[in-house]
Amino acid sequence: MKFFVDTADIPAIAELHALGMVDGVTTNPSLIKKSGRDILEVTKEICDLVDGPVSAEVTATDADTMIAEGRKLLEIAENIAVKVPLTWDGLKACKVLSDDGAMVNVTLCFSANQALLAAKAGATFISPFIGRLDDIHMDGMELIEDIRVIYDNYGFETQILAASIRSANHVLDCARIGADVITAPPAVIKGLVTHPLTDKGLDAFLADIKAAGIKIL
Ligand code: E4P
Repeated sequence: MKFFVDTADIPAIAELHALGMVDGVTTNPSLIKKSGRDILEVTKEICDLVDGPVSAEVTATDADTMIAEGRKLLEIAENIAVKVPLTWDGLKACKVLSDDGAMVNVTLCFSANQALLAAKAGATFISPFIGRLDDIHMDGMELIEDIRVIYDNYGFETQILAASIRSANHVLDCARIGADVITAPPAVIKGLVTHPLTDKGLDAFLADIKAAGIKIL
């Protein structure tokens, strides 16, 4: 399973990248706003840092402008994936840009039928939003399961990019189901290392190291 980082925070991406944890990056207008940076500048900086796909989202809602924006974003770097919303116009833009050979990430997916449409329109990635479904008391993970079954039934190559990941359990469940990619905030990825028994065990070892005066260097 690939790890994408869901942020436009360059130092946070760099820290995870140094450990080999970054297979790609996703951004959205809210994350660009949070960065306080110009979208083209910050996206270029991310692309210079990371080899894998970097999703940058269009701002228009009509297909023609989405396509024009997508083409401008694609000039930033070879690893840009154009992110379009899961609307009829977004699907039109997805089809045109995919036919041009561009990577397209269809975002804001909340149903398996939407995911089916995105795959048929040639999406490279489909981004089902788990956390936002959980927020309204629906089952985000069930959506990932349904899309996995449907894509496997028909051999669609569109990659399931599980998004709106909020917890370590989301990551684990996505790995069990077979999502191709998860995109998560840096804090969630770093949080995967934490286990109380690891902390407790280390404390005990450190106490014994001190008591026995064990030294290596
Ligand atoms: C994915 O590409 C989105 O940027 C992101 O995962 C949305 O997550 P949120 O629901 O926590 O804002």
